[in-house]
Amino acid sequence: MQIGFEIERDEAIANTMRVPAFAGRYLRICDAHAALEHEKVRTDWLADPKTLIVGGGSNILFVRPQVEKVVHLAAATFGYVDEPHTVLAWAEGGLGFDDWVRWTTTQGWYGLERLAEIPGTVGAAPIQNVGAYGMQLSDVLISVDVWDRVQQCRSVLPAAACDFGYRYSCFKAEPHRWFILRVTVRLRKTAPPDWPPLNYPGLAQAADSFAHEANRALPLLTPCDLAQIITRVRRQKLPDWRELRLGSLGSFFQNPVVSNSFAAALKQRWPDLPVYPQAAQNAFVAESKLSAGWLIEQAGWRGFSHNNAGIYAQHALVLVNLGGALGSDLWDLAQRIQADVFERYGVQLVPEPLIIDN
Ligand code: EPU
Repeated sequence: MQIGFEIERDEAIANTMRVPAFAGRYLRICDAHAALEHEKVRTDWLADPKTLIVGGGSNILFVRPQVEKVVHLAAATFGYVDEPHTVLAWAEGGLGFDDWVRWTTTQGWYGLERLAEIPGTVGAAPIQNVGAYGMQLSDVLISVDVWDRVQQCRSVLPAAACDFGYRYSCFKAEPHRWFILRVTVRLRKTAPPDWPPLNYPGLAQAADSFAHEANRALPLLTPCDLAQIITRVRRQKLPDWRELRLGSLGSFFQNPVVSNSFAAALKQRWPDLPVYPQAAQNAFVAESKLSAGWLIEQAGWRGFSHNNAGIYAQHALVLVNLGGALGSDLWDLAQRIQADVFERYGVQLVPEPLIIDN
């Protein structure tokens, strides 16, 4: 009988920042159903709030390199249920998110293509509601299958129960509670009315040159084409997370969401500051999103480095490990940037990744 898991000791924890990180005990789950049948997995591992669940390590900064217990879901099967005009595509949490996006676009399905090139696993994606180029995962997400580590039961949370917002979800709110087993999205088999979605700055230009090269009219671009266009756009500004010599976690800070009146006051002083109206999350105060990259760049940090911990030269929102930096070197730099931005603009930058520091 398959037991569905393996236990290792003193295992290195893979992370895209490429900093040293080790788990004293490491549980690799290859078959979630079989593994969850075991009392030891449910209680000793998952019910222990000190157990850290790790996916692709693309959104965790290990400031402290040693972690006692890690659970890693390696189960990565995927499939779909056919519907008349749409499909319900599902994937287990251990599948690479980009692999899933590429597979769905290769099938010719519309919906995930703008999320191409995002690092990490399917299971990590709903936690921060990954988003890029004018869409978020929650725009297509139908449900998330979870193991509730507190109640010790399995359940399926419909999208409406996940409390999704900008880089936010109920999973982020209670990080020690949820073990994400499977994600289901609804994708279209035919192009949506606004196809291709090129509203994001820079995308229309990249799509024009792609369509020109491919000798294809814009409305005839396929989901695969759009994923390729997104890949090109990302490569111009963001480091490739497959690159072993350069560590990164994508955007290191969230774009700050502030009240409209505070944004207007900043805009008066710094007229070039990009300010985007924010869909209402708080019914009482209208809010705006500021560009953290702009704030950090204007403060002079772009391209800076110390102890091989640096700010990427092409994008000030990305912290990079230039080789051999420790998690603590990167965290020192992040804190210096936070303090400087706060002093200059009165804006508190919030890190996007989970920080393991105590
Ligand atoms: N900007 C600068 N300097 C910089 C970077 C950005 O001035 O060094 C300003 C520019 O005005 C630019 C604006 O910021 O026009 C927006 O920049 P960009 O289009 O690169 O988007 P972003 O807000 O910095 C967000 C996501 C990215 C996502 C892009 C594209 C967050 C925290 N980041 O970045 O997500 O790829 O939009 O949709 O929301 C990630 O989360 O890891 C990530 C890469």
